Amino acid sequence: MKFTLLKIENFLAITEAEFRLHDRGLVLIQGVNKADTSADSNGAGKSSLPDALCWVLYGITARDASGDEVINDRAGKGTKVSVDVEDDEDIYRVIRHRKHPKGKNALHLLHLQKDGTINDLTQGTDKLTQAKVNTIIGASHDVFKSSIYAAQEQMPDLPKMTDKMLKMLIEEASGVTVLEESYKLARDKLTTERGTRDAIAQQIEKLTEKKDWHERNKTSLQDQIDGWEENRSESVTSGTAELKQHVEDVKALDEEIAAAGHAVLAAAVKECDDKILAVSEEQKQLMQLNQKVAQATSTVNLTRMEAKQTQDAHARQKGKIAAIDHRVGCPCDECGREITEAEIEASRVSAMGVLKTLVDNFTTQKNALEDARKALTLITDKRDAFEATMTDISAVSALRAAKQRELDAVNEVIVKRRNLAQKAKDLAEAIKTLKAQENPHRLGITKIDRELLTISAEICKASEQLRLAEGTVDIAETVVKVFSPSGVRAHILDEVTPYLNQQTAKYLSIMSDSNIEATWTTLVKNAKGELRENFAIEVANEKGGKSFRLLSGGEKRKVRISAALALQDLVATRARKPIELFIGDEIDDALDAAGLERLTQILEEKATERGSVFIISHNSLRDWVSQIITIQKEVGGETTLIEETV
Ligand SMILES: Nc1ncnc2c1ncn2[C@@H]1O[C@H](COP(=O)(O)OP(=O)(O)OP(=O)(O)O)[C@@H](O)[C@H]1O
Ligand SMILES: [Mg+2]
Repeated sequence: MKFTLLKIENFLAITEAEFRLHDRGLVLIQGVNKADTSADSNGAGKSSLPDALCWVLYGITARDASGDEVINDRAGKGTKVSVDVEDDEDIYRVIRHRKHPKGKNALHLLHLQKDGTINDLTQGTDKLTQAKVNTIIGASHDVFKSSIYAAQEQMPDLPKMTDKMLKMLIEEASGVTVLEESYKLARDKLTTERGTRDAIAQQIEKLTEKKDWHERNKTSLQDQIDGWEENRSESVTSGTAELKQHVEDVKALDEEIAAAGHAVLAAAVKECDDKILAVSEEQKQLMQLNQKVAQATSTVNLTRMEAKQTQDAHARQKGKIAAIDHRVGCPCDECGREITEAEIEASRVSAMGVLKTLVDNFTTQKNALEDARKALTLITDKRDAFEATMTDISAVSALRAAKQRELDAVNEVIVKRRNLAQKAKDLAEAIKTLKAQENPHRLGITKIDRELLTISAEICKASEQLRLAEGTVDIAETVVKVFSPSGVRAHILDEVTPYLNQQTAKYLSIMSDSNIEATWTTLVKNAKGELRENFAIEVANEKGGKSFRLLSGGEKRKVRISAALALQDLVATRARKPIELFIGDEIDDALDAAGLERLTQILEEKATERGSVFIISHNSLRDWVSQIITIQKEVGGETTLIEETV
């Protein structure tokens, strides 16, 4: 990854500047301050140049200037810094504004397409855009300040850093942080894949349960089918035996009926009936005679009763006449004088008349009774005479009754035979129907078989999916392991440590003639032999102080420079987002001439290997450096940039 073009407008001391950052080799930044008579180069704006890069990328300078502080005093507004960043094939432009007439205070991120079109990647807020910028650069402000830009008075002090800070810097500088994100993504992916696999396994479990349930149903249904068939077979066998028995019984009854001579008996009864029918005329006549006898008897009784009534009336009339006769000589009820015979004569005559009539009637009735009695005797005799001449059918009736009983018995057998024959017929029909009947449970089995076929296919399909999902989970687990602290991360740190040591040793050996040694540790083995992270830089000095604390100022600076340059090498050589840029602002401070020469040698070498190294120094380095950028502050405060190759 390269920072290519840096453009500055109204930033700190600089009114306007533009220069290339990439593939420059070793460049010396110098300053001329015409605005301040007390200074030659101090305050010219040298440090403002790399600070502009720092600010455009992170919104803060190495000396922690931010907000309106960064606006050039002379302009008072319109601050704008942009830098182009090339990441493989992609070119981005980061633009930061402060009180800018167009850009206001905004941070913009553009993606410059090869065809000239611009894709604006600016997000809804500066915070979000900044996050995107950080992702593109792949280095935080801390890493930037510790390995890329060793700012004035901000020389990265790696040997004195805490384990935590050093860990952060080394991990980020080596690109392990990216793995952290990958580790998180891998774990997320593993969770998802496990979820998918478990869901499929659960689905298979459910399907298997369903299958088992259907199979159990099928077994019980099969039992029902078998049971039904057994029942049918038993019913057919027992029915057939029963039928056979019926047929035999019918045959036996046929024989019984034949032996009983039904026809002969029926003929005998008929014969008796004929005979009885023949005497029925006589019975009719007898009945008529009996009726006449009854009539005659009734006439006699009626006549006798009338005569008796007349006799009674005669007696009562005689009493009445005696009562009339008795009234003679008795006082009258009305006048009291005695009643004479003459006075009762009329009544007596009348009563006597009635009496006579009664006598006449009685005589007539008596005669009539006599005639009725004669007629009764006559008809009774006639009836008795006829009855005596009547045919005697009692024997025939008795015979008929006997024959009829026998016939009834036979008929009973016939009915029994008929019923039995019907029963046999019904039974034969039932056996036929039962034999032809479809087993009612078979349909259920067909249905279950169909269902089982579908479920088996589903299980088969899901099992294949499970196999694939398990494969995916295995891969995801492997990926998690690879990105886990014990995986590739440890491996990288394992590789990084010797590299840092080798680079630091290289720089220190030049700077100190191998007297001072600085050793980086990232991973240490604990008592159990397990790797444990432990970030530190151990310093040893053969000829002097035995720890970093006891080193001289110049020696400390040599260690600091060596460690920072080694870290820069790490950033420049990492697999993703390598940054081939180093800016050192007065890092040569406190070095003597010998130290300075050695440093310049290192920086030159570094510039050859790593693209661009910018160095700001008050020391006269023109003998060692061929490219010079001079920032010149004019009397009025405006700045100009002069680039020269010597
Ligand atoms: N907002 C600002 N506007 C204009 N000038 C500013 C602003 N902030 C700081 N300055 C001044 O800009 C000048 C340049 O600072 P800078 O740090 O770039 O100088 P320098 O060339 O690195 O000097 P030195 O050699 O002393 O480190 C200084 O005089 C400083 O006071
Ligand atoms: Mg400075």
